[in-house]
Amino acid sequence: MSTPLLTVENLSVSYQGRGEEAVRAVEGVSFTVEPGEVLALVGESGCGKTSVALALTRLLPSSAAVSGRVTIDGLNTLEAAADSLRAIRGGTIGYVFQDPAASLNPVLTIGEQLVEAITLHTEARGASAGHLAVEWLQRVGIVSAEERLHAYPHEFSGGMQQRVCLAMALAAQPALLVADEPTTALDVTVQVQILRLLRDLQRSLRLSVLLISHDLTVVERIAHRVGVLSAGRLVELGPTDQVLRQPQHPYTAQLLQYRNMISLRPNHQ
Ligand SMILES: Nc1ncnc2c1ncn2[C@@H]1O[C@H](COP(=O)(O)OP(=O)(O)OP(=O)(O)O)[C@@H](O)[C@H]1O
Ligand SMILES: [Mg+2]
Repeated sequence: MSTPLLTVENLSVSYQGRGEEAVRAVEGVSFTVEPGEVLALVGESGCGKTSVALALTRLLPSSAAVSGRVTIDGLNTLEAAADSLRAIRGGTIGYVFQDPAASLNPVLTIGEQLVEAITLHTEARGASAGHLAVEWLQRVGIVSAEERLHAYPHEFSGGMQQRVCLAMALAAQPALLVADEPTTALDVTVQVQILRLLRDLQRSLRLSVLLISHDLTVVERIAHRVGVLSAGRLVELGPTDQVLRQPQHPYTAQLLQYRNMISLRPNHQ
């Protein structure tokens, strides 16, 4: 067995409201992501998926109390110093956040943002960073990439912004990509394209991926293993085939049933 790239042990997150009782968003969650593995975390809205993703590198707001142990590439992130954490974020671990438009800077061009990610996390500088930026845009399927470098985020469609976010995360050459609902806002055709792209890049770069989704169709196409979150708890974790064919937990069976109901809708591809 190889050493896991990411180990999460007994992770809990709660949010302190104003005077009210704390919201227990994540409770005692444990899992690993192996090198080259795609692990999907699924579950309905509000079950704690994004809280898990952001807790990994302490990106949660100060109202969040986090406990447990998270180890990424040997570093204990919940206890690490701020500068080693900064090096990990966007470096060893790349994020595609749930809302791509919000994670792009509206006043910088796509090229400026890509070059910034590249110079911050790789050795490339100047013209060679610029060439890499073009290459990454091409790799994520953006046509006329060289011209597109000069565009601003608002000039891109939702699907293209999603691709740019993926390019930015990957350009930093992370060992682990955390992709939070990377295709949710997109129509079905673009969704399939982005998933194919993610799967191809994952294979060619031997990336580890923590894929967060509420959509089992997405998960089934790409994940090696699936973890099911329900009300902040990990209720099932196993190989994708096994979890989807023979769900052990009633909640997973219910999720699968919803998935089947949706795919029976006449206008759904
Ligand atoms: N900053 C916050 N302050 C207070 N409560 C929060 C905060 N962020 C999330 N929560 C609460 O924590 C719980 C888990 O939220 P989280 O965003 O992690 O769920 P999710 O599974 O990512 O949902 P979705 O599928 O809608 O993105 C929810 O009850 C949510 O309302
Ligand atoms: Mg979320």
